[in-house]
Amino acid sequence: MAPSRTLLTGSSLMALLGSTVAVPFVSEPTTTVTSVPTFTPSAVADVHNVTSHGPYTGTPTTTGAIMTSIIAPSIPARPPGPDAFKYPADGQLHAPEPAPYTPSGGLGTNGSMPVYKVLTDFDFESLALAEYQEYLELDLFHWGLERFSVEDWEAEGFTAEDRFLIEHMGNQEIGHATVVANMLGPKAPKMCTYNYPVNTVAEFIDFCQKITRFGEAGVYGFLPHLNARDVAQILLQSITVEARQQMAFRQFEGLFPMPEWFETGIPQSWAWTFIAPYISSCPANQTRLIWQNFPALHILNQPNPARINGSSVWNETLGDPQNTLNSTGIPESELCRNKNVTGIDCSPAVTHNRSVPLSYPGRQVFLQWDEPGQAVGPNNSYVTSTMAGAPKFALWVSQLNATYTPLLNVSGNTAYTIQPNGTVFDNGAAVVNNTVFLAITDSDLYVTPHNMTMVNPHVRALGMYQSG
Ligand SMILES: *[C@@H]1O[C@H](CO)[C@@H](O)[C@H](O)[C@H]1NC(C)=O
Ligand SMILES: *[C@@H]1O[C@H](CO)[C@@H](O)[C@H](O)[C@H]1NC(C)=O
Ligand SMILES: *[C@@H]1O[C@H](CO)[C@@H](O)[C@H](O)[C@H]1NC(C)=O
Ligand SMILES: *[C@@H]1O[C@H](CO)[C@@H](O)[C@H](O)[C@H]1NC(C)=O
Ligand SMILES: *[C@@H]1O[C@H](CO)[C@@H](O)[C@H](O)[C@H]1NC(C)=O
Ligand SMILES: *[C@@H]1O[C@H](CO)[C@@H](O)[C@H](O)[C@H]1NC(C)=O
Ligand SMILES: *[C@@H]1O[C@H](CO)[C@@H](O)[C@H](O)[C@H]1NC(C)=O
Ligand SMILES: *[C@@H]1O[C@H](CO)[C@@H](O)[C@H](O)[C@H]1NC(C)=O
Ligand SMILES: *[C@@H]1O[C@H](CO)[C@@H](O)[C@H](O)[C@H]1NC(C)=O
Ligand SMILES: *[C@@H]1O[C@H](CO)[C@@H](O)[C@H](O)[C@H]1NC(C)=O
Ligand SMILES: *[C@@H]1O[C@H](CO)[C@@H](O)[C@H](O)[C@H]1NC(C)=O
Ligand SMILES: *[C@@H]1O[C@H](CO)[C@@H](O)[C@H](O)[C@H]1NC(C)=O
Repeated sequence: MAPSRTLLTGSSLMALLGSTVAVPFVSEPTTTVTSVPTFTPSAVADVHNVTSHGPYTGTPTTTGAIMTSIIAPSIPARPPGPDAFKYPADGQLHAPEPAPYTPSGGLGTNGSMPVYKVLTDFDFESLALAEYQEYLELDLFHWGLERFSVEDWEAEGFTAEDRFLIEHMGNQEIGHATVVANMLGPKAPKMCTYNYPVNTVAEFIDFCQKITRFGEAGVYGFLPHLNARDVAQILLQSITVEARQQMAFRQFEGLFPMPEWFETGIPQSWAWTFIAPYISSCPANQTRLIWQNFPALHILNQPNPARINGSSVWNETLGDPQNTLNSTGIPESELCRNKNVTGIDCSPAVTHNRSVPLSYPGRQVFLQWDEPGQAVGPNNSYVTSTMAGAPKFALWVSQLNATYTPLLNVSGNTAYTIQPNGTVFDNGAAVVNNTVFLAITDSDLYVTPHNMTMVNPHVRALGMYQSG
């Protein structure tokens, strides 16, 4: 039998109770009206518990991003569109109202029925990328809870309630994967198997904090460019939950929850570069993606949030593209967890101040990048590549900004650069003071949030920097 969809309003509730007199709503009702929960089965989502984890050891049957005929090596920069400056923005109305209280204009406002389906290759490839991300997170959050013992969690200051929140976040991904699959249709990518580099609870939390950061930023980058406005709406309403997850993982890590004033957006190929190395294999006939995999950028003195002095580090990551912290082997006296001193303690909390900053403007940041041509991603079937010339700049993508600093002492695949100073608006938040994106480029092409993708032909390598 189809489950009931009836909404119980105050009056229908009273009718149900057979009462004709006004029944006051009191804080302790004596009757609970039960109803069968409604649920919409998913046509295509492939949500299941992944039973094995680890690297892929087989041979790929296919290689490389999918492609069709290519028109040009890059999209030329053009002047603003013909209507860009047309609207006077004078607070007056400039066209008849389609209906009362309804200004003219907008997209998807003319009464056409929304159908929540992708409309173009751009839409499909972007949503398919988001689907890969949702499946990984679904698996990752549940995996971490099983991987570490209750004692492991408690030693890092995580209570059973904290762990339930992580479990809940995993379950939220079921909904996200389902809704994205429904908008993609039967060729939506399927859930894969994964390989996570982490060995401790601290590494797991840092890994999740960074995964959700690029998951969020990856969608913000393409959301306003989607053809299907109805699809964008639904995706927006799931990615805002991802944003909350990212902040919760920062709080679990003992970081300041949101030093930034603005979240950032990154191109799809950046998100794919970060996610692919953690996918070991996918089912046969998996839907493949068009996006580029850039070579990894290793930050040799990547700040380590597990330390009291997080900037006093050398080569303390797991070597992965998002530069996850390595907590193995740090002496207890140098760890910030369980320290119970304001400014030092980084146990899970709503917020913490750090008296010793993780990073700061003017810091020398030492970099090393991989050669292209490495097999990565599902079944090792994608290959890292770059179209860039000789590396010249570091590109810091954070908040609303894309800031270049020169590479110094370039020698082979290593160099250093200086962390930029500067704020988003006068006296505002430092541009680089959170979990930010760092690229190596061959030029300092000026890009802003809505045309960030145009930098891709200039990107030599890509990583993530933990500046706050
Ligand atoms: C996944 O495993 C959990 C227990 O770890 C179980 O509660 C859940 O029902 C499983 N989900 C699926 C789709 O099998
Ligand atoms: C990106 O947009 C900005 C304006 O917001 C413009 O100045 C810049 O030239 C654009 N970059 C490219 C590569 O088109
Ligand atoms: C309404 O807008 C949609 C795009 O959102 C367009 O495809 C359709 O032709 C428009 N309908 C009318 C009657 O203008
Ligand atoms: C994969 O696709 C091929 C060709 O369409 C088909 O013959 C094969 O059965 C499919 N394999 C699976 C596991 O779906
Ligand atoms: C933190 O480490 C850096 C780099 O080793 C050092 O310059 C700085 O003095 C240290 N800060 C404190 C407060 O120990
Ligand atoms: C960093 O450490 C890893 C082992 O953790 C080692 O393999 C690698 O050579 C080190 N790299 C540098 C530049 O010190
Ligand atoms: C993490 O650090 C430990 C101790 O320095 C080292 O043995 C291990 O190789 C590092 N892990 C990775 C993946 O580099
Ligand atoms: C933390 O320190 C305060 C005062 O210094 C003390 O009252 C409190 O019990 C300590 N908490 C823990 C968990 O050790
Ligand atoms: C936290 O940091 C802010 C600014 O960095 C400072 O104004 C405030 O006094 C600090 N609070 C504590 C309790 O350390
Ligand atoms: C980073 O942001 C936090 C929160 O606003 C602030 O307390 C801290 O001073 C900032 N650090 C740097 C190095 O700008
Ligand atoms: C950053 O800018 C501020 C404000 O102009 C200045 O006081 C500070 O010295 C600068 N720091 C560095 C490292 O350049
Ligand atoms: C950051 O971006 C904002 C908005 O485009 C701009 O006003 C500001 O000058 C930028 N800040 C820096 C340091 O580049």
